[in-house]
Amino acid sequence: MLDSLLSGIIAVSQKTPFRGRGGYTNLPKDRQQVATPLEKGEAEAADVDRFFQFFPSAPVREEIAGKSILDFGSGYGGRTVEYVRICGANDACGVEPFQNAVDAGTALAAKRSLSDKVHFKLCTQESIPYEDRRFDAILTFDVLEHVADPRTSLQELYRVLKPGGSLYAVFPVYRGAFSHHLDYLTLVPGLHLLFGPDRLLRVVNRHLDARPDIIVGRHDRLPTHYKTGKPVLPMLNGMGLRDFKEAIEGWKVRSLTLNSIPDIVLGRRSLVSRLTRPLTTMPPVLAEPFVFNVAVILTRPAES
Ligand SMILES: C[S@@+](CC[C@H](N)C(=O)[O-])C[C@H]1O[C@@H](n2cnc3c(N)ncnc32)[C@H](O)[C@@H]1O
Repeated sequence: MLDSLLSGIIAVSQKTPFRGRGGYTNLPKDRQQVATPLEKGEAEAADVDRFFQFFPSAPVREEIAGKSILDFGSGYGGRTVEYVRICGANDACGVEPFQNAVDAGTALAAKRSLSDKVHFKLCTQESIPYEDRRFDAILTFDVLEHVADPRTSLQELYRVLKPGGSLYAVFPVYRGAFSHHLDYLTLVPGLHLLFGPDRLLRVVNRHLDARPDIIVGRHDRLPTHYKTGKPVLPMLNGMGLRDFKEAIEGWKVRSLTLNSIPDIVLGRRSLVSRLTRPLTTMPPVLAEPFVFNVAVILTRPAES
């Protein structure tokens, strides 16, 4: 019966603005299913400013100018290339656990004649293939929610960052209403707060069987939360705000902003955003459904 309810919600959402986006989100709908990796990289590049907008009080673009930077989880490499091309970073390295992503970034850097300054390397879930203290700054956008164990990733990021350097990270928390990552099929918020991951997987797969127009990697197994071992939704690690705060032990927090859903939809200065901001200061378990994402700047202490 709960399967039918969930299936019905997803079916109804297809007739509303909450219908899914069909696939890769930055591209126009008609290109999503057919875009080449290079085109996906170009779409990321066109979207480069969105990352900086999450840090309204820090001049991140200026701070990375002239620096040697790491783009952790660089996707198709579009942002990585732009960090050098339009932000003036001295050089940029993108790391990805997938060879096709490394190849896409490498091709985009070549197309922009930046192969001497922008490089891509394969990493693993456990390690980043660079020496200690290699980078002046690290940027990472929508990645920390995907890594196998954020504690391990944050330790690796600390290791490859120079003392005094900054890590700029933006990521959603698992229990955020829009964090279920089912956007290719439905944008209905909070489904994972109401239905368990096993039920979501089963029902979503049934919908995908009937939707050959949505070409996404199918998931048949659920990953588990890296600490509790409980099943979580595909491609995610289940990290909550409290988990994140535990994982950054040793880092200095320069700023940590919780962006609420009204902040994203209406802007942080809107009246609704200001009135609802106290919701994000409640204990994490209550606050997280209202949090769209976290924008944090961490520094490796200069004396470390
Ligand atoms: C949502 S995409 C974001 C890509 C890119 N940062 C952007 O903003 O367009 C998440 C990326 O994280 C990568 N990823 C997952 N686990 C990772 C890990 N342990 N280390 C580095 N990247 C990882 C995925 O392969 C994927 O490309």
